Amino acid sequence: MTDHDWLSERNAHLKSRALEGLYSEKTHFIHGRCSAAHREYRHHLVPPASVSVSHKLQHHDQVQPGDEDPSRAILEENLAYAEGGECAVTFASGTGAISAALCNCAQAGDHVLSHKRLSGSTQKLLRNWLPRFGIETSSADFTRLDLAKKHLRPNTRVLYLESPVNPDLTLIDIAEVAEWVRQVNLQRRPEQRLWLMVDNTLATPYGQRPLKLGADLVVSSLTENIGGFGTDVGGVVVGPACLKPGWLSFREDFGGVLSPRNAWHFLVYGLSTLPVRFRQQQESAMKLARFLERHPCVEEVTYPGLDSFPQIDLAQRQLLDYDGRFAPGTMIYFRLREPVAGQGVNARKCIDYLANNAYAITTAASLGQIRTLVENPESDDSARDPRGLRLSVGLEKADDLIHELSEALEAVFAATQ
Ligand SMILES: Cc1ncc(COP(=O)(O)O)c(C=O)c1O
Repeated sequence: MTDHDWLSERNAHLKSRALEGLYSEKTHFIHGRCSAAHREYRHHLVPPASVSVSHKLQHHDQVQPGDEDPSRAILEENLAYAEGGECAVTFASGTGAISAALCNCAQAGDHVLSHKRLSGSTQKLLRNWLPRFGIETSSADFTRLDLAKKHLRPNTRVLYLESPVNPDLTLIDIAEVAEWVRQVNLQRRPEQRLWLMVDNTLATPYGQRPLKLGADLVVSSLTENIGGFGTDVGGVVVGPACLKPGWLSFREDFGGVLSPRNAWHFLVYGLSTLPVRFRQQQESAMKLARFLERHPCVEEVTYPGLDSFPQIDLAQRQLLDYDGRFAPGTMIYFRLREPVAGQGVNARKCIDYLANNAYAITTAASLGQIRTLVENPESDDSARDPRGLRLSVGLEKADDLIHELSEALEAVFAATQ
């Protein structure tokens, strides 16, 4: 038996074991889905990191499966599996993935309807760039579908939403929106169909699977929770195989390819540790949310795990991990009591205090890392509430984080007495 035969036989055997359905998602995130074409390594426990930007072709005219970068290909296979989609294509950033997903489902003359609140970068893409290419954009409140339905136009080709919304953690009922899309599509020709696109960056596939709830496509930044360590930038779109050629050509033609080095990090460190990081961070987030809710200087805390969360029923139905356990996430949004209604004087003081004094809590405009990050999301987008504080809870001991928050609140409010 040649080396190649031995590898192929072993890979076929491992693949059939992986596909038997006996192993949990957590195990698959570490061992992959064993696609034979990308596992041509014999003694390595970890996939060898390839830094080659091109690969030998097996045929004269086109790239075959297995000719692509192996880390990227295995990562895409795992991400498609994680989200429960037919295929995944990675990009150089989350915004790159969102651009590709939108521009493949809508073209000049079409309309994209989004939920009224989105992350800053996505808002800018919709507001500043798509209209330049002749794609109309507008927004509606997707928590009120009766009203949102009035904003649908004959040329609307995409409904776009984040759930939970960054940063205020509003949830959109994905199954309900999907049912609306299904009804609309019954009246349309296939080439005019409406697509439902969901940004799953905050919940991650570990905490929510939009495709299972009826969405057509999922987009996600890999930079945040899936990357987890704050070292790499990337994004992914997951959905039906019929859209893959368009995503690949957009990636090539607009230059948004995920670097092989970053792909390897997401594969080896990010996705494999996502369940354990997410669960631990979520446990701490629950403790911090309860602490903040009881604190006299805090006006309002929004965290899907609290009984006071306004959409608690939806949260408990929609935010579920692979074992069906409630997964309220790792982010908290809160507001302090303010001396002047509507202004964020104390919020800014609190951020400044933490920026200058905190050891465990870092002031930074990111989320989903092993470090706890705090920011006033107003700095991203002036349309946002200047009183809002977004806390992305990391892997530090929860008591240490509570201690620092408590100290900051004391300092801010002592100064205003
Ligand atoms: C919900 C959400 N979607 C998309 C993005 C954009 O991702 P990236 O920074 O990888 O472009 C972000 C960034 O914070 C985000 O929070």
